[in-house]
Amino acid sequence: MTATEAPGAARYLPEERALDSLRAAAECCCGCSLFADATQTVFGRGDPGAPIMLVGEQPGDQEDRAGEPFVGPAGRLLARALEDAGIDPASTYETNAVKHFKFTRKGGKRRIHQKPGRTEVVACRPWLIAEIEAVRPQVIVCLGATAAQSLLGADFRVSVQRGRQVRPPSSVLDVEPEPIVVATVHPSAVLRDRSDRHDEAYRLFVDDLRSAGAGL
Ligand code: URA
Ligand code: SF4
Repeated sequence: MTATEAPGAARYLPEERALDSLRAAAECCCGCSLFADATQTVFGRGDPGAPIMLVGEQPGDQEDRAGEPFVGPAGRLLARALEDAGIDPASTYETNAVKHFKFTRKGGKRRIHQKPGRTEVVACRPWLIAEIEAVRPQVIVCLGATAAQSLLGADFRVSVQRGRQVRPPSSVLDVEPEPIVVATVHPSAVLRDRSDRHDEAYRLFVDDLRSAGAGL
């Protein structure tokens, strides 16, 4: 990298900003170090004119192999929750704050998910912003802290502000008409909650999705 090139994904963005062009360009992104160990870029998928965009954290093990977001266990829980919230999955666009899988290896083979850091989230944000500008959703649902903090700032706390309509700073997102943004927990957090509060956690997740859908 030369001094004039900013780190991050921005310099990999194509001139043509339709989703297909973005997806093709993102395949070659080296905007942070995560491309090196992951199998492939996992770009968003879904209705290119979707009224609702769902933003997760990053692809997991199965998404990394399949090249598509939300095809693993968290995706199955999300699909069920959308249905229970009365949201047609065909009317959504699903993507992630970070497009490459970050992991460590355990015992040689198993790949263990690692949370992406702030540097990676900021490096990858140009893809997310470009997807939002291409799809122009009316509602964006941030699934978990990583997505929420990408669009709403590092101080955003899902535990405090979940389910509420919030506005991203215009320094991050400047699209017209301005989408409604709602943050909730990540479906993996609901999945992992095996306590006697699991049903309640699922119900609250569905409630957040339903109230986000009601913003349409
Ligand atoms: N978790 C995410 O945040 N995104 C996916 O695509 C899958 C699991
Ligand atoms: Fe590029 Fe994002 Fe992958 Fe980093 S995680 S290499 S910024 S696509």
